[in-house]
Amino acid sequence: MSERSETAQGQSDATSRCRQVAAAMVAPGKGILAADESIGTMNKRLDKVGAAQTEENRRDYRELLVSTAGLSDGISGVILCDETLRQRFADGRGFPEALCELGLLPGIKVDTGSKPCPGLPGEQVTEGLDNLPARLAEYAQMGAAFAKWRAVYTITSDLPTETGIRANAHALARYAAACQEAGIVPIVEPEVMMDGDHSIEKDAEVTSAVSAAVLAELADFGVDFAGIVLKPNMVIEGTDHAERSSPKQVAEATAAGLRALPDDLAGVAFLSGGQSPERATANLAAMQAHQTRWPLTFSFGRALVDPALQAWRGDSGKLSAAQDALAQRVAANAAAVRGERTDQELHPV
Ligand code: G3H
Repeated sequence: MSERSETAQGQSDATSRCRQVAAAMVAPGKGILAADESIGTMNKRLDKVGAAQTEENRRDYRELLVSTAGLSDGISGVILCDETLRQRFADGRGFPEALCELGLLPGIKVDTGSKPCPGLPGEQVTEGLDNLPARLAEYAQMGAAFAKWRAVYTITSDLPTETGIRANAHALARYAAACQEAGIVPIVEPEVMMDGDHSIEKDAEVTSAVSAAVLAELADFGVDFAGIVLKPNMVIEGTDHAERSSPKQVAEATAAGLRALPDDLAGVAFLSGGQSPERATANLAAMQAHQTRWPLTFSFGRALVDPALQAWRGDSGKLSAAQDALAQRVAANAAAVRGERTDQELHPV
């Protein structure tokens, strides 16, 4: 085979692998567990519950989460950070290997965080593109099936700017294209933050503008929509807004914004963004009333793991209480995406 046809063959293998993995990530009734907090963020969370900020505790906590019995009934894959991907279970198995044996796809956060964007006061841009293809090749070799990159947008009276929206969308698309070339599914996560007192209407406007810019950049970079999972925020009012939207309102506003998404997208997996676990689940459940061309599922971080972390607090004697707390949240969200929630469960917000 000529060099050119070998490259073409390699690309088509990578494309079909990405499509297959992306479909598995959003398989019916399943969501994705985001356990990829950076070392700094994880330390803050450990500190908050009175647990020591050590590498061992960060490892123990992640092993506790992913080894919860039956996790793969409602979870398709787990996003880890670089530190955890390189760590081992207590029995000596590496995390990627152990996850596969538990029926879970291993994922890796590859952005290096959001930093103040030069030239755009008050706005942030996510970094991590330097050397990304080489890092992805190493992660693929370590067993990562998918990756994550999160861009953040804050709403104020004059932000985000069009340039800020474009800068992050551009980085997300370059990241997504690099992932697909490496045969790794990119989770594309543009997050309009809940911080602030903005209304749900304002959030809808900004989320639509962000989504349009991200879709345009993805298309410009030739990203295969069937081989990505989009991870947007739900459309919701700001944390300090006077009125709280109902699940029905959140679902309607969110679904309206999704209409512009391409038909061939693998699926949408929402972040929780700081909503309480119960509210995130109720909103996700209400979303299922809308007929969409792709699965609408969850890729929650805090809304899945906060109750488990609270139960554990670094105490090995509380391991099974913590796993029960996680199992409960996973079951509630899996039931939500299967459309199995009862009316009573839909109103605990
Ligand atoms: O980066 C954030 C995670 O992917 C989602 O976390 O559900 O707590 O917003 P969250």
